[in-house]
Amino acid sequence: MAERETWTTRLGFILAAVGSAVGLGNIWRFPFATSANGGAAFVIVTLLAVLIIGIPALLAEFVIGRRSNTDAIGAFRKLGRPGWRFVGAIGVFASFWTLSYYSVVGGWVMRYVLGTATGNALATPETYFGSISVGVPSVASHAVFMAVTIVIVAFGIERGIELATKFMVPAIVVLLVGLAVFAATLPGAGDGYAFLLNPDFGYIIANAGSVLPAAFGQALFSLSVGFSVMITYASYLGEDDSLPIDGLSIAVTNFAIAFIAGLVVIPLLVVQGLQPGAGGISATFVAIPTALAELGGLLGQVVGVVFFFVVLIAALSSAISLLEAVVAYLVDSFGFSRVPTAVGLGVVIFVVGIPSAWNTAWLAWFDGIGVALLLPVTVLFVVLFVGWVLGRDAIDEFTKGSGAGWLASVWLWGLRTVVLLLVVIIVALNLQDLFLTPSGSYIIPGPLR
Ligand code: ALA
Repeated sequence: MAERETWTTRLGFILAAVGSAVGLGNIWRFPFATSANGGAAFVIVTLLAVLIIGIPALLAEFVIGRRSNTDAIGAFRKLGRPGWRFVGAIGVFASFWTLSYYSVVGGWVMRYVLGTATGNALATPETYFGSISVGVPSVASHAVFMAVTIVIVAFGIERGIELATKFMVPAIVVLLVGLAVFAATLPGAGDGYAFLLNPDFGYIIANAGSVLPAAFGQALFSLSVGFSVMITYASYLGEDDSLPIDGLSIAVTNFAIAFIAGLVVIPLLVVQGLQPGAGGISATFVAIPTALAELGGLLGQVVGVVFFFVVLIAALSSAISLLEAVVAYLVDSFGFSRVPTAVGLGVVIFVVGIPSAWNTAWLAWFDGIGVALLLPVTVLFVVLFVGWVLGRDAIDEFTKGSGAGWLASVWLWGLRTVVLLLVVIIVALNLQDLFLTPSGSYIIPGPLR
């Protein structure tokens, strides 16, 4: 069998992981989750969720991946705990599940690059969204997006994922910063910033039972934790990398890019008198073009093309990680060859995504199940496994390359206590919401509820 690939450079790994994290979660999902959960204070709660649960859990996935050097399910066998393989399996399934509808939204974004270039998306935003987001056109763009994802993954780690994200991530940063500078020049942009920085904590406290799980789900989705993706990516890593430094760099960059995206999107909307985040899953696709149309003619089109191009590469660099988590399982555990596996799986995922492409209510349902059930449950078991089963081995792996033994102990104890307790509470709240509340409070967000 051919030797297993590795990242060629440490930066290559960091960029690929950032590429996985930064995606539709930051630009498409975050605004509607924010508006459905009380506005700006949700941003702060999500940031806390990233710091207290997201980063420790990300490091736990890194530890499993690097120590085992194999796919996310085989990893548990390799670590001598085959009974825990189900943990990797739920995560891999979460990737499979999520990619099926993620690709649908990615397809819409592709259409919007064209639609803003021709001006059609700006002329009648709502009609345009209605015409491309359902039925045959939506299935067709879903197919194209999935095909591009398959091609990159088929090329493998070095020549596919690492090479692609090396260009994609810097492009996202440069273009987004350019757009944010432009947005700052719009008259009235200050009101947009005020929206971002004016939290209403009263709402959060009154609705903690639904806001906390939603913020937690958003934090995991955005960091790509709970998808087995970070286990898989870390399995291609060498021994001399510092996991805590890499993890922190990835989380900080992810948050910074989300925040810059907010600095672009929110002023654009507020300046036009639109409510940021209003409109559920269609928000980005209707509100932004409406705002761009107000800018007028060519300027609106140019800004629109750049904006949707950024969203497109962000979506692609995440989609490839979701497909890779599943492909790696079949390649590593069964010895299948990469190209046919990527193609075959991609086709199956495309088929599973057809209902979401056909009707947006299905898409919202898939999103709800993934974020409220699959991700939190996977993270619960990852935390339990690394904290209480792997124990000393986890400290050993964490310390390798970083030398930060004291930090490893703090992290492990954090996982065993605070993180575990919080994750148990969140999973309980989610289960109650999913199975005991007839009209789940956030499982189907926005107007589709
Ligand atoms: N982490 C990816 C995103 O935020 C899935 O889009």
